[in-house]
Amino acid sequence: MELIGVVGAGTMGVGICQIALEAGHEVVVHDVDPGALEAAQVRIRDGLERRAVRLGLDADSIDQWVEGRFQGLREADSMDAVAAEADVVIEAALEDLELKQTIFGRLDGSSGPETILATNTSALSVDAIADATTNPGRVLGLHFFNPAPVMKLVEVVTAPRTRAQLSAAATRLVTNWGKTAVQCADAPGFIVNRVNRPFTLEALRIVDADGASIEQVDRAVVDAGFPMGPFALMDLVGIDVNLAAARSLYERFGREKRFEPSPTQERLVSEERLGRKTGAGFYRYGADDRPIEPSEEFAPRTAAGSLSDEEVVDRIVLGVINEAYYALGEKVASGDDIDLALRLGAGHPRGPFERAEDIGGPQVVRERLLRLSAKLGPRFAPAPALRAEA
Ligand SMILES: NC(=O)c1ccc[n+]([C@@H]2O[C@H](COP(=O)([O-])OP(=O)(O)OC[C@H]3O[C@@H](n4cnc5c(N)ncnc54)[C@H](O)[C@@H]3O)[C@@H](O)[C@H]2O)c1
Repeated sequence: MELIGVVGAGTMGVGICQIALEAGHEVVVHDVDPGALEAAQVRIRDGLERRAVRLGLDADSIDQWVEGRFQGLREADSMDAVAAEADVVIEAALEDLELKQTIFGRLDGSSGPETILATNTSALSVDAIADATTNPGRVLGLHFFNPAPVMKLVEVVTAPRTRAQLSAAATRLVTNWGKTAVQCADAPGFIVNRVNRPFTLEALRIVDADGASIEQVDRAVVDAGFPMGPFALMDLVGIDVNLAAARSLYERFGREKRFEPSPTQERLVSEERLGRKTGAGFYRYGADDRPIEPSEEFAPRTAAGSLSDEEVVDRIVLGVINEAYYALGEKVASGDDIDLALRLGAGHPRGPFERAEDIGGPQVVRERLLRLSAKLGPRFAPAPALRAEA
């Protein structure tokens, strides 16, 4: 069984260590911050205990199972030590290209030629990270979702120089860990972070233009079968985190208008109103983390919004479907994998192509997008692949 190395013991690194330990691997982990390593030990053990309870083990077996798995975990005091030992290294350090390049340069120099080097980056180019190595063929992206032990999806990112057998081996590995792998190209935002971008961006545009209140948008979206509305979601993940992803996509798409971040979000972040973690974002939160009410400026205006619930959901859903066609046309992933990724990674009740079929197929989608773009501008202009298919 492969020895798994993890670099970075923060939110994602801890989750990845836990998953690998659960599957019975030996895991060696390194973090520059000794405090993070100490906290990681506690969090990994807690995570294993929760898993054991969910597996329905009795009290004695729980201890035995947790101890058995936890014994597989070791700390390394350098990433060279991780690289020297591991068969597969998964990097989950901070989202910073220069830092990741430094890490991959070191991993490359300290590991054997067969070691698989994976990055958990959300938004950076895997190929740019691989530039720091002498052998970019053994570098790929393994994009886990947060919380990693719970979320089923992993985007397996094959960069232009990644060896095909490497992606196949990494796919087998995460499949053995109980994950569902989707294959994608090394394109900005991969599948979910890109195709789901209109879910929050369009919601912000609706509210910015007084089309509806944040509560109406969230309620309409939940009524349409989504697990959470876009504003509650942004508050949950952090408005700063969502904005960073939006900014990064906007830049990587050459400031393409349809990815332009919302000034409202920029302002909230500059005022450090980041969502639940600061007690206020779009909503205000009580001591138990429950939303009390919309923050004052987002309270329904005296004049009711001009959009019906149906129009709100339509704009958001058609935006997502259109982005899915862009991604398909750019060969980021197959239609089936895009559907699967949006269901598992973003909790959508139906994938975008499934939904396109539900509403009458590509021809109908294209006509509805044309009507929206005539009214609202080029962000709704049908994607090239949609024009071709329709
Ligand atoms: N949090 C998410 O929702 C999420 C989801 C998917 C992917 N990601 C990506 O995963 C990566 C990690 O994100 P996170 O949320 O776990 O961050 P985090 O801030 O919780 O943890 C990052 C850890 O990396 C450590 N670190 C920094 N420099 C290091 C170095 N040179 N060597 C070793 N360790 C180092 C830090 O001390 C910290 O403990 C990022 O690239 C992020 O974009 C995050």
